[in-house]
Amino acid sequence: MEHVFKGRTLAVINDLSNEERLYLFNKTKELKEAVVKDDQEVLSNYRIDDPTFGIYEVFLEDSTRTRESFKNAAKFHRVKLSSLSTDSSSFNKGESYADTFNTLTGYDNRVFIIRSKLEGVCRWLQSETSGFAERNNLPFTPSFINAGDGKHEHPTQELLDEYTFLEDNDWNTDSIHIALVGDLFHGRTVHSKAHGLTIFDKVKIDLIAPEELEMPPTYIAIMESHGYEIRCFPSIDAYLSQGEVADKWYFTRPQLERMGDRILQKQDELRKSITFNRAHLDIVAEGTKFYHPLPRHKSHPVIPTFLDETPFNGWERQSANGMLVRIVLLALFSGKLGEDFLPTKRVVKSNKRVEFIEKVEPKVKKKSAQYSEGVHPITNGIVIDHIGAGDTTSEIRAHMTSITKVLGLHGKGGEWVSTSSNTEDRYKGIIFRPDFQQFDLTSLKRLAALAPGSTLNIIEDGKIKEKYRMHLPPKIYNFEDLGCKNPNCISHRAHDEGVPAYFWKTKGETFVCEYCGKLHSFKEIWN
Ligand code: NCD
Repeated sequence: MEHVFKGRTLAVINDLSNEERLYLFNKTKELKEAVVKDDQEVLSNYRIDDPTFGIYEVFLEDSTRTRESFKNAAKFHRVKLSSLSTDSSSFNKGESYADTFNTLTGYDNRVFIIRSKLEGVCRWLQSETSGFAERNNLPFTPSFINAGDGKHEHPTQELLDEYTFLEDNDWNTDSIHIALVGDLFHGRTVHSKAHGLTIFDKVKIDLIAPEELEMPPTYIAIMESHGYEIRCFPSIDAYLSQGEVADKWYFTRPQLERMGDRILQKQDELRKSITFNRAHLDIVAEGTKFYHPLPRHKSHPVIPTFLDETPFNGWERQSANGMLVRIVLLALFSGKLGEDFLPTKRVVKSNKRVEFIEKVEPKVKKKSAQYSEGVHPITNGIVIDHIGAGDTTSEIRAHMTSITKVLGLHGKGGEWVSTSSNTEDRYKGIIFRPDFQQFDLTSLKRLAALAPGSTLNIIEDGKIKEKYRMHLPPKIYNFEDLGCKNPNCISHRAHDEGVPAYFWKTKGETFVCEYCGKLHSFKEIWN
């Protein structure tokens, strides 16, 4: 039977299903008990124990807990542990991520742990190195573990956070009420909670942050899609002035290193609104637990040190749990653990073809029929109609220019902005190309991606021979003039990593970047 975990990648928390994560937590609980009892027999069942098994740490941003807990986890496993010295590597000679990690894959390394400013790097390398492994007949494809990518996600932190919440919930997954406090804008650990907290059936989440540090709309949209109950407060004071206070508080540090000058000028004020103080102590109920991914700042901690020796302290155990969760994650991805895991819900990617190019029966127009103004019926060629219906005339013209460019519709003919027959839309664009014949499937797909809602008419001998209506395709990629608009995304042009833009359509009419998860409107995805 196929091993469910072996060779997997954890780029975002959603890469592990809820039941896979709960399995991992169960194994972590057993491991923790064995560590307390020093039960060497049980511990040896967890250990990879293979000096040729290569684990590689590549940290391009600072780290203490994540890097060191993985290092100690790898030492527990008795494997070949390496770390790339990024100050003196060929990154500095302009080498791409793909070339660098293909090289390291060729040296028999099976798990890569990466922290980078570039968002989506693990997703990209997973696909690049599997091509490399295939070309070079390697007996494996490597796993990638995201140890924090820019402002995007921090899935292994999310694992240890969820594990700690469950410990404090007596392993009950019915519900959670949690306050996220601090820098919700830059904090990738809180972003991973948008999908992560779905392990609980009912989620109530209170977001406490001043406007400048608010949770980005992309993650709010995800939380809403999961049915979380969300409330927002600008400060701890405002939060405590109302009655319903969470029994779990998750603090994050203001990430000054990621902020612009404008926000930095206000740092004292911002910090004050998200810092716990002695006056708050009288209001917060007994039994409340505080957590923090750490580090906390020695001069300006959002959880002050006078709380260390109180029962509020959940962050120390949270941090120690990090190594245990990571030991289990490495054991699963190596194939050492997880053979007995039987998923009840098989996650199968749907192969159902989505018909985004609809063939429609052409209506036969009577001789006297009205044609859109200015378009004299052509005898042979193509007519693309209903372009950009509902847009302004200048938007429609710009849109037709890109369609002409992308589809290579050069030659004679024209573009026209006409009155739409649909009164709500007012205007629509029409492109006509007499004598233009070559319109293959690829061009049809391109047209659907560029101009959903439009129709393509293929005209022969004065009659419509074929007619197609375009709908938004489920994914859009393979176009030169597509681009993710997040400047930190690995696929953003500025980084020159050769990563082609790739978007998925969400349930609404928005597009999410395959790499960094940023939501775009349909128009935003085009350069
Ligand atoms: C966090 C990180 O780097 O995302 N720390 C961590 O990994 N434990 C949070 C932070 O830097 O504030």
